[in-house]
Amino acid sequence: MWGVQLSSAEPFVYSIFGLQYHHEPPTEEQTTCQKEFDDLIANHATHIDRLVQEGSAGSKVAKTFIWLGYWKTRTEYLDWWTSDAVTSFWANLSSHAGLWREIMMPSDTRTQFGTNQPKPSGLGYLGTPTSLGEKSGYWGCYRHRMSSFQDDNFTTNVDKEIVQVQHYTLQDTDHELPIIPGRQILTNLPDNVCFVIEGQDHSEITDEEKEFWFKNFDQSVERWMNDLVFAGEGSGVLDSKLCYCPESGIFRESDSDLSALNYNKKVQLFYFKDLRHLERIGRSNKGHVDLRHRFMGAYGPGGELTSGKICLWVETTVIKGNEIECEYVGCFEGTGWLALGEHEIFAVQYSD
Ligand code: HEM
Repeated sequence: MWGVQLSSAEPFVYSIFGLQYHHEPPTEEQTTCQKEFDDLIANHATHIDRLVQEGSAGSKVAKTFIWLGYWKTRTEYLDWWTSDAVTSFWANLSSHAGLWREIMMPSDTRTQFGTNQPKPSGLGYLGTPTSLGEKSGYWGCYRHRMSSFQDDNFTTNVDKEIVQVQHYTLQDTDHELPIIPGRQILTNLPDNVCFVIEGQDHSEITDEEKEFWFKNFDQSVERWMNDLVFAGEGSGVLDSKLCYCPESGIFRESDSDLSALNYNKKVQLFYFKDLRHLERIGRSNKGHVDLRHRFMGAYGPGGELTSGKICLWVETTVIKGNEIECEYVGCFEGTGWLALGEHEIFAVQYSD
C-alpha cells in the first residue's frame, strides 16, 4: 500500500465546486456557466477530477456536475480565487445559478491517503508516493497515519457549535423552481468533521480480474455504499455524494439505484461527524469488514492479484471549523451542508 508525502510548509486545499442542474438537459444559462467556470479553473488547480452526481437534495436535483479540485498550497488556491476573472464571475452569478462551493484548507498533519497503486490518484497528485510500511492492515491505521494523532483526539465538539448561515439576497429572484434564491454562506462549522474520499478505477483491469471482482466484491460494495448513504444521522454520516467520471466508460450493466457504481471510475465523497464515527461504521458493517478482508487477501502480498490493475484510493481528513467554508448560490434546499438546518444536526443561526 502506498501513501503520499505532502509538504508541511502550508495547508493544501480541496476545492469542491458543483453546478446543480435544475433541469435535464440543463438550460442554456447553466451550460454557459459550466463552460465559463471550467475555463476559469482548468490549468490552475494541481489536479481536478470532473465528476457527475446523479440526483441530490432528496432527488430534487437532476444531476450535479462536480469539479473536485486539489491544490498543493493555499497560496496557489487563493491567488486563483481572488483573481479578477474569478471574483467577477462569482460576484455576477444569478440568484438561481445552482452553483455551490465547499472549500477546505486542512493541515497535512490531519490527513491520510492510501492506495494500492503507486501511480497518482486524488491526493497522490500533491506529493511523492511513499510506502505506508507498517501503518496498514489493522484497525486504527488511518488515525495513525495522521501525524498529529498523539496530540489531538479528533473528536467532534458538535454539541457546542452553532453553524452560522448568512443569506445574501441577489437581484433577479423571479424563478419558478423551489430553490433558495441568493447566496447562503456557512461559517463556524464544527471542529473535527471527517472528510472522506474513496475512489475506484477499473479502467485497466483484465478480464480475469473483472471476473474475480464480480465474484468477490461487487455485491458487497453495492451493499456497503447503500448502507452508508442510508445510514442516517445517528451513524455520523452527514452527507454523501456518489459520483462517477462519465469519460471513464461503463464497467457494468445494472439497473441498480446506485448508478454511479456502473462506471469504470467512481469517486465517493462523505462528511462524517468525526473520525471515530467513520472508524465505528467501517469496523461494524459486515459488508465492509468482508470486503476489507478479501481485498487485503487478494491484492496484498502473496495474494492472487498482487499485480492486478484495479486502482483503489482512500483519503481521510480531519477538518477544523475555521478551515472550511461553504456557499450555495441558488441551490435547492437540503443541498450539501444546507441539510444541517433541515435535519437539526447542528444548531443553525441565520442572518441577513
Ligand atoms: C466508500 C466507502 C468506504 C469507506 C467509508 C471505508 C472506510 C474504511 C475504514 C473506516 C477503514 C478502517 C480504517 C482504520 O481502522 O484505520 C477501511 C479500511 C479498509 N477498507 Fe474501506 N471503506 C470504503 C470502501 C472500501 C472499498 C470499496 C474497499 C474494497 C473494495 C475497501 C477496502 C478496505 C481495505 C482493504 C481497508 C484496509 C486498509 C489498510 O489497512 O491500509 N474499502 N475502510
